Parts: sequence; structure tokens; C-alpha cells
Amino acid sequence: MKPAKAVLGGYGTTVFEVMSALAREHRAINLGQGFPDGNGPDDVRRRAAEALEDSPNQYPPMMGVPELRQAVAAHNRRFYGLDIDWQREVMVTSGATEALAACLLGLIEPGDEVVMIEPLYDSYLPIVRRGGGIPKLVRVEPPDWRLPRAALEAAFSPRTKLLLMNSPMNPSAKVFDRDELEFIADLVERYDAYAVCDEVYEHLVFDGRKHVPLMTLPGMRGRCARIGSAGKTFSLTGWKVGYVTAAPEVLQPIAKAHQFLTFTTPPNLQHAVAYGLAKDDSYFTGLATAMQASRDRLRNGLERIGFKTLDCAGTYFITADIRSVGFNGNDVDFCHHMTVEAGVTAVPVSAFYQAADVTQFVRFAFCKDDAVLDDAIARLARHFARG
Ligand SMILES: Cc1ncc(COP(=O)(O)O)c(C=O)c1O
Repeated sequence: MKPAKAVLGGYGTTVFEVMSALAREHRAINLGQGFPDGNGPDDVRRRAAEALEDSPNQYPPMMGVPELRQAVAAHNRRFYGLDIDWQREVMVTSGATEALAACLLGLIEPGDEVVMIEPLYDSYLPIVRRGGGIPKLVRVEPPDWRLPRAALEAAFSPRTKLLLMNSPMNPSAKVFDRDELEFIADLVERYDAYAVCDEVYEHLVFDGRKHVPLMTLPGMRGRCARIGSAGKTFSLTGWKVGYVTAAPEVLQPIAKAHQFLTFTTPPNLQHAVAYGLAKDDSYFTGLATAMQASRDRLRNGLERIGFKTLDCAGTYFITADIRSVGFNGNDVDFCHHMTVEAGVTAVPVSAFYQAADVTQFVRFAFCKDDAVLDDAIARLARHFARG
């Protein structure tokens, strides 16, 4: 038979699947894949159940149910002061993953250059390539994940169609500050580019820091597509409800891609997310406070064992240096070793870089119950005490 399409077929199984399968095989505690323990807020789930019974279950509007689009617009105003027209500037997608695909396939013409900042979430590069984009990679690196401004500037050219960025950033847990965002905004404007902003961890920011959407900076309102995810904001990752906010001219081509990708998203889940986005501020601050406590629990445990951990300003993830516990192999070997020998799974940070040359750091997810984190720490402590 003729070979299947190579652009996507050439990719192996994602590292998350590989490590999760190994974790299952060895009954290890899986701190690799970033899904929370627990089942999300009871009232949001209840709303989904009610809507399943009481609301229509046929195709909802392609752009999303009005209630959710209104709620996304209101959320943008409440948290960021953005004035959004819900009818022309909000679209609901099947998770941020579909939002990303729709943005990239909708905006990129074959041959367009796309600036991306490594480490990269795994779906970015395959979709950019499938869309015919030419990736221009810049990297932030552990331990300080500093933005390499000269390299970023050099990556832009008159052929740059868009910048794809992620803040708060997985796996680095970096939250881009205003000064960095101003530098980025200047480049986006100077090169007449778009910016696709993956902000799925917008409510998971710690230590009093604030998430600043690039869209709120001068000149950026009409150039950015801002992506959120109910999966992250309500700890309901299986729901796959996402939303894109963008000026009408930016959203239109994105909506064209969406109509041929999934077209719609289950209506009861959309109603429940609309309900969730309208919850009191205390829900959103409570989410960050609880996640920060989990971060501290895992970080303190890892540090007690001897791991050096890196600053963690947001997301579900913390990075640890494997040299600090005397491991001399690479991060992939370490994750394998730790799963099999200690019964705890993490993911190698090298998997987020094309060159796979950042090899001494691993990512742990801390969006887990206290008992699970404690058990993981106890297992690691036993293992590393044995030496
Ligand atoms: C940076 C980033 N973007 C997008 C996604 C996907 O979000 P969703 O589950 O809403 O598709 C994730 C999920 O882990 C993520 O970490």
C-alpha cells in the first residue's frame, strides 16, 4: 500500500503515554501526566448532569452556546479588563488542543514562519508542520528559563506569520512578566504578526504573581488569539472544553478551521462551564491556593530527599534536577529508573525540546491528593536512602 501521510504519522507515541503505560505496568504513582486527582467541583458537574437532562442534546451553534460565549466574555472583563463582543469575538472548542489546531490551521499559509518558544507542548509542532508552517524555534532553558531576547528578535522576519506562546508555561512553570511581554508585543507589532497565546493555566499562578495576557498590552488586542481551557480551570481535563477570544478578523479564519475540525462541543458541558466561569472570585483564588499548597508539599518533600527543584511560578508542574540526587544518566533513563525501582513516575524535560539536549531535568505534576503526594515522597525517600 502507499505510505500514509508522513507529517503526523512520523511522530512516535507521546512521552506522556509512554511513561503512563510504564507507570501502569509497574504500579507506580504517576506524577508524569498532568491530570488532577479528584473529580472537579461538584456544582459544575451537577450543572452538566442537569443540562444533559433538561437542555437540547443536538448540535449546538458552531461558535458555541450563547451562555458560554457570554460567560467567556464576562470572564475576560472580570479578570483582565478586556472588553469582548461575545457574538463576534468568542468561540468554543473541544479543548485547548482543538483551539490550538484551529488557530494554527486557520492562520498559517504554507511557507509562513511561526516563532515558537521551547520547551513546547507536544501538539504545537506537528500542527504547525501539518499547516505548512516553518517553525522558528527559540528556547528558554533551565534552571532560570530566561527569555533570550536577542535570539527571539532574530527569529522574527518579514515572513513571520505568528508567534505561538504559552504562559503560564508547561513544563517550565514560568509565568512571563510584563517586561518580557512588552518585548514580545513590540516584535509582534513590528513584524505585523499574529500571536496565538496558550493560556490554559491562567488561574494557576502562585505566590501573589499575576497572569498577564499578551492581549492586554498596547497594540495586541487585534493581533492575539487567547486560548483558555475549562479542563484546567475546573480540574475537569476529560471534558475537553476550550475557548478562543480574538478580534473578529482574527477569529473568522480560526472559526473556518473549527467548523471542519469538530464543528461543536457537547452542549451540556458548555452550559456547565458557563456556570463555572461565573463562580465567585473565591473559587478562582481557592484553586490557586490549593494548587500552591500541593506544590509546596511536593517541593518540600523532594528537597528533603535531596532533589534541587526549580522556581515554580504557575501550572501543575515542578522541575527537579536529577544530578542533585547523584544520577549520572539522562532524564529518560532517570524516569524509567524511578518508575521501575522507586515506583514514582515523572516525565523527562528533554521531550519538550527538538534537540532533546536538555537532559538533566524531570517534570513532576503536583495536581494530586495530599495522600498521593505523601506516598510518592515516601517511596522516593526510601529509594534514595538506599542509594
Ligand atoms: C500548555 C498546554 N496547552 C494545551 C493543553 C491542552 O488542553 P485541553 O485539555 O483543554 O485540550 C495542555 C494540557 O495539558 C497544556 O499543558
